[in-house]
Amino acid sequence: MTFLVTGATGTVGRQIVAQLVERGLPVRALTRNPAAARLPDGVEVACGDLTSPRTLVPALEGVAGLHLITFGGDDGADLETGPEIVELAARAGVARISVLTGWEETSVERALREANAAWTQVWCAEFMANAYDWLESIRDEGVVRVFGNHPSAVVHEADIAAVAVAALVGEGHAGRSYALTGPESLTPEQRTRLLGAAIGRELRFEELDEAGYRALMRAAGVSDDLIEFGVQLGARPPEAGAVVRPTVERVTGRPARTFAQWAAEHATAFEQP
Ligand SMILES: NC(=O)c1ccc[n+]([C@@H]2O[C@H](COP(=O)([O-])OP(=O)(O)OC[C@H]3O[C@@H](n4cnc5c(N)ncnc54)[C@H](OP(=O)(O)O)[C@@H]3O)[C@@H](O)[C@H]2O)c1
Repeated sequence: MTFLVTGATGTVGRQIVAQLVERGLPVRALTRNPAAARLPDGVEVACGDLTSPRTLVPALEGVAGLHLITFGGDDGADLETGPEIVELAARAGVARISVLTGWEETSVERALREANAAWTQVWCAEFMANAYDWLESIRDEGVVRVFGNHPSAVVHEADIAAVAVAALVGEGHAGRSYALTGPESLTPEQRTRLLGAAIGRELRFEELDEAGYRALMRAAGVSDDLIEFGVQLGARPPEAGAVVRPTVERVTGRPARTFAQWAAEHATAFEQP
């Protein structure tokens, strides 16, 4: 029996793969492009596309635990194929499912609920890794530009993965919904300072107005849908996003990682070339 990780080449999925491998468990990683996947040795790579569920049949063979993402495609669009994926997983005899969810419920969560499947919802408001959105402006100009300087209880992707892995390998997580956060709620300006300290460079923080944000995103080629999503979050961030919760420690037995820790781990990527 093996564990199938979807989104395995993504921010959270790579961590899930690594943590399952660390535990000595057999891992199969789903990707649409095996040649570009760069997955660790010993991981079985399976080619498949979540928007085309038939392609998942071979990947689901012999799977005990399945980690699911809820989007399909590089524009972040919600998966419409939840019912087919959930039915195929049930037919393959998958015993446990973890699902990384975002703000909006998708066809995946609805199908799992309707099928009365054994699944665990792993939710968070914001990844610490979103600081990678600032990579170019930090490297090139030493500046971070943000619309909406609101606090957010950003969570380390390794902690999201640790909770998903706990749900896949352990008892008692089926039917649970885990809202994950880091140990503190930080504004983008505070995160900018922490990142600057890790890089050893003073960074400037510039708060944009909505028009400035729209112009910056359009120039970067961001889709209209994602710009609207960013405007909504910047103008009226949901209060839930700033609430610090004890879930990571409760589920994993280890304190949630701090943003300072994330910044230290990723500092070299932000240094000037
Ligand atoms: N960023 C945040 O703050 C945040 C907060 C809460 C929730 N989320 C949710 O987290 C998700 C983003 O996760 P992430 O950042 O870990 O992912 P990511 O780094 O953006 O990577 C995308 C992954 O999805 C896979 N993928 C995309 N479309 C696919 C398809 N049709 N079939 C199979 N695989 C597909 C890609 O695989 P290949 O390219 O290898 O095929 C890749 O592994 C979004 O749904 C978002 O709503 C994000």
